[in-house]
Amino acid sequence: MAKKRVVVLYGGKADEHSISCISASGVLKAMDRELFDPIAVGITKQGRWIISDVDPRDYSLHTKGLPVVRDTAGSRQVVLAAGCGADGFFVREQDGTLTSLGRVDVVFPVLHGPYGEDGTVQGLLEMMGVPYVGCGVFASAACMDKHFTKELLSTAGIPVAPGVTIDTRGFDGADEFRANEREISDQIESAHLRYPLFVKPSRAGSSFGVVKVDHPDGSALARAVFESSRHDWKVLVEQGIDGREIECAVLAPRTDGEPAASWPGEIVLDRKDSRSDQFYDFDSKYMDSEASHVEVPATLPAETLRAVRDIAVKAFTAVDGTGLSRVDTFVTRDGQVIVNEINTMPGFTPISMYSKAWEATGVTYTEVITRLLEGALCAQERR
Ligand SMILES: Nc1ncnc2c1ncn2[C@@H]1O[C@H](COP(=O)(O)OP(=O)(O)O)[C@@H](O)[C@H]1O
Ligand SMILES: [Mg+2]
Repeated sequence: MAKKRVVVLYGGKADEHSISCISASGVLKAMDRELFDPIAVGITKQGRWIISDVDPRDYSLHTKGLPVVRDTAGSRQVVLAAGCGADGFFVREQDGTLTSLGRVDVVFPVLHGPYGEDGTVQGLLEMMGVPYVGCGVFASAACMDKHFTKELLSTAGIPVAPGVTIDTRGFDGADEFRANEREISDQIESAHLRYPLFVKPSRAGSSFGVVKVDHPDGSALARAVFESSRHDWKVLVEQGIDGREIECAVLAPRTDGEPAASWPGEIVLDRKDSRSDQFYDFDSKYMDSEASHVEVPATLPAETLRAVRDIAVKAFTAVDGTGLSRVDTFVTRDGQVIVNEINTMPGFTPISMYSKAWEATGVTYTEVITRLLEGALCAQERR
């Protein structure tokens, strides 16, 4: 059988640009070359699609700062002809002529955050009629927006953290929301939220703009809301859940099969004692390798592990997920499972939770990539 041509999209306009580059590096290195022929298409932070002269396989978290896709003199612009479907991928040569990239069988959008994980690129690919890995337009959009994820999960009877959503568009940014202090505090009081509180942008990721407010303090709270609103005008204020952070990888490459849940893994924060305010912030996630580690399977009673797996599948189904997602939960001391969020394109390096969780469940990183690509191709044939 001829190899399938796979466009791997990476980079993108979101804050999580660099994380996407590192995920794509892992995917490109592990993809089964007997079956697939990848074409790496980078998207700059400004939104230009290019074939870079820098091989994205060389990207890593630790080489010369965080990787960035740059439209250098040696890169070639990618031109899409949306109406031409799978034949609509071209590159612009130095002399201005267009060369076809050939018929594209499937796209793997290894993109995190807005303009990648939020239904926008999925919509583009739907319009082009090109199959792609992962959730569709609706699930991607719903899970990108933490407010709406919680609405859907609550409706399905899945526990979520109590919280309120604040529309900051009318607030006074020049004053860093000082003038809105009372208004914000009133909303917290009416919802009977208890401290500590977590303030976070509805549509972001990688802990960008997530602020913990430990004690009742109107001005600290207003400042936290201001900080989050730099990422999104829609800001969530949630009651802090005192629980362990347990994440479960869901894989459902085919639309006709039941979604499968991996063994849940735990994010263990190693500085929680010395820095009691530590949470899983950007530095703990990516920059400080000694701040946290991942344990798969999580050391929890068998019935709790089962409960997390069941809720992960239920949550994935509630948002109409397809392909893959990582369902992040808090498990409280008494074994209650509360869903924090669903990442439709989770961190995807070989050492990311998603891959490690499948590895521990008996599915290798390469096999996960193959199943996702073959599932997307198969779904297309059934349309
Ligand atoms: N309600 C909450 N209770 C306790 N911790 C929270 C809560 N919300 C967020 N956190 C902490 O902040 C981290 C990042 O928040 P999260 O909602 O997962 O946003 P992101 O999409 O940026 O990962 C979580 O992994 C957790 O450590
Ligand atoms: Mg998270």
